Amino acid sequence: MEKTLLIIKPDGIQKRLIGEILRRVEAAGLAIKAMRMLQLDRRTAGRFYAVHKEKPFYHSLVEYMTSGPVVVAALEGINAVSRFRALIGATDPDKAEEGTIRRLFADSIERNVVHGSDSTENGCIETSFFFGTADLEMVESTE
Ligand code: CMP
Repeated sequence: MEKTLLIIKPDGIQKRLIGEILRRVEAAGLAIKAMRMLQLDRRTAGRFYAVHKEKPFYHSLVEYMTSGPVVVAALEGINAVSRFRALIGATDPDKAEEGTIRRLFADSIERNVVHGSDSTENGCIETSFFFGTADLEMVESTE
């Protein structure tokens, strides 16, 4: 079992894609363990993307990620990281596979609608960035 972080970015919210994206997540068999809508402030967005601090697009990325609300969700499943990455496609929508979320809905390499963790380790780090242990360990109810 792996965890991965989904962020529906401000452009995804503006385009009213929350339902469409969550539908695809569930249809792919990934479990939504925890989910929240929030407005990122510059400090939090900067901390989340700290690994990109030296990149030329860093300030623009922080501006964009704080331009409106986002939805963050912790997804769980076997090979969840690679399965979710297959669903969203490459960072650059022009290079993303046909039928992927970014190919279908993203405007540019920056405004690319969704984020997904890029490794198992980052899946753990990034889900813990937004959610506490109590949220992530929640057991699904059985009928
Ligand atoms: P994400 O998968 O959230 O990880 C880092 C984000 O930085 C990425 O999606 C894009 O939104 C943005 N990004 C990555 N590469 C570039 C680039 N070359 N130019 C502008 N933005 C980028």
